[in-house]
Amino acid sequence: MKISFSKSLNSDIDILLCPVFKNEKTFKNYDQNLKKLYLDLVNKKLLSGEKGESEIIINDGKNLPKKICFIGFGEKEKLESYDPREIIAGKMKTLMNKHNKKIGLVIASEMEKFFKELVEGLLLVNFTPVKFKTGKEDQKAKEGLFEELVVVNSNEGKFKNIANEALLTTQTVNVVRDLVNGPPNHVNVEAFAEHAKKISKENGYKLTILEKRDMEKMKMGAILAVNRGSGPKGSAKMIIMDYTPKGISKDNYNKPILLVGKGLIFDSGGYNLKPYKGIEDMQQDKAGGSIVLGVFGLLKKLNIKRRVVGIVPVTENLIDAEAYKPSEVITSYCGKTIEIRNTDAEGRLILADALSYGIEKYKPEYTVDVATLTGACIIALGDRYAGIMGNDRKLIDNLIKAGDDTDELLWEMPMHREFREIIKGKVADVRNADNGTSFMAGTSKAAAFLENFIDKSKWAHIDIAGVTYVDRPKPYDHPMATGYGVRMLIKFLEKI
Ligand code: BES
Ligand code: ZN
Ligand code: ZN
Repeated sequence: MKISFSKSLNSDIDILLCPVFKNEKTFKNYDQNLKKLYLDLVNKKLLSGEKGESEIIINDGKNLPKKICFIGFGEKEKLESYDPREIIAGKMKTLMNKHNKKIGLVIASEMEKFFKELVEGLLLVNFTPVKFKTGKEDQKAKEGLFEELVVVNSNEGKFKNIANEALLTTQTVNVVRDLVNGPPNHVNVEAFAEHAKKISKENGYKLTILEKRDMEKMKMGAILAVNRGSGPKGSAKMIIMDYTPKGISKDNYNKPILLVGKGLIFDSGGYNLKPYKGIEDMQQDKAGGSIVLGVFGLLKKLNIKRRVVGIVPVTENLIDAEAYKPSEVITSYCGKTIEIRNTDAEGRLILADALSYGIEKYKPEYTVDVATLTGACIIALGDRYAGIMGNDRKLIDNLIKAGDDTDELLWEMPMHREFREIIKGKVADVRNADNGTSFMAGTSKAAAFLENFIDKSKWAHIDIAGVTYVDRPKPYDHPMATGYGVRMLIKFLEKI
């Protein structure tokens, strides 16, 4: 995929996209021929620029591209920041076929402030989840992907960096979508670690991978308990990536941001086996870890100025004779004992060890974890808002703001003192679920559990169970993995 710039309209563009506003007739920097075409349509009352309207004009291809598509964006004053991404992507989705390989995008002066959103929308829609399909029909989806985006605007200097950032970010989101969708026999524990190696090598990060034997020595009893049902060959890993930007002060170096992501390759539920409705998409349970890997793919390329440490605990949650059982008591890395009430509440266990290890070793200024943690979050918030909880107002507000800016939305869930009581164990320090009523405020109770493992760190927990994998996608998303979270976290890291 390539983005190029052009001052004038090029006739080798396969289809030219022209966003237009309702009642806006100036188009200061439009090509005269194009302007004439558009005003002709308006005068003949064939187009008014209303949101959802569009018209394709076929040309002789001499002065203008052969196909020109005017897309209505409605009234300029009423446009919300999430609109441009969705409107352009919604239209582009209908235009994707093997004849449209080189896409032109006219950026009139009126549209300049939405440049990044427009490019993001187009590049996010240029994805297909049919990676493993071999049939002829399915090839069509792959053939329909476009290869080049030509931005028609005379101000290349102003937009070049934004275009580059949008390209890098959206390509990463697409990689994350593939990771999250990735079947567990393809994207397994080893493949996940290989991906982390590739990212670290490409960017020169320090990478440490704790293997099962290392974790045994270090007494990471929580992740090891979850891993036990995977058999002797079923590996577990703790992936640790350290990004230190050049030239940061010692003071900043000592105050990294810690990102922890749940990397559960497949969640069967364990002895609390998931029912037939609910188990079949549990390859998505590695989404938190995939997002963290995605963010690390971008930190250096986007020149993020903070030191960031990423930790991804990786394992499956399976069943065999050695598998952990409800009623067991295990000892976590930080020494706290945990009563297993439900083997399907495994995410919080692997996060517990990752969080306490990361906080002890790196003493971060802020800690943020991302995880597909509770079905309760899907019930409470649905598929557009992720849940956020934590112990630091500024951190939570900054993350919510980053979510608003990128339309990867966050909604704060309560941390009531009674949830802390509910999560206390009968025979151990804490328990991983409160049998019987775990469907009630389950998202908050999971956070109350995690709170036991963050020491005094300023911390936020993001539950992405509802937004990660959807069957009602936004116009620029696709059914299954959305890649939610990469753009939001990058925005947060750019600002903090
Ligand atoms: N991975 C699941 C949560 C999940 C469900 C993610 C659906 C995405 C879609 C998690 O490990 C889990 O099973 N949580 C339990 C916790 C309960 C036993 C306390 C749940 O939500 O039912
Ligand atoms: Zn589970
Ligand atoms: Zn899980």
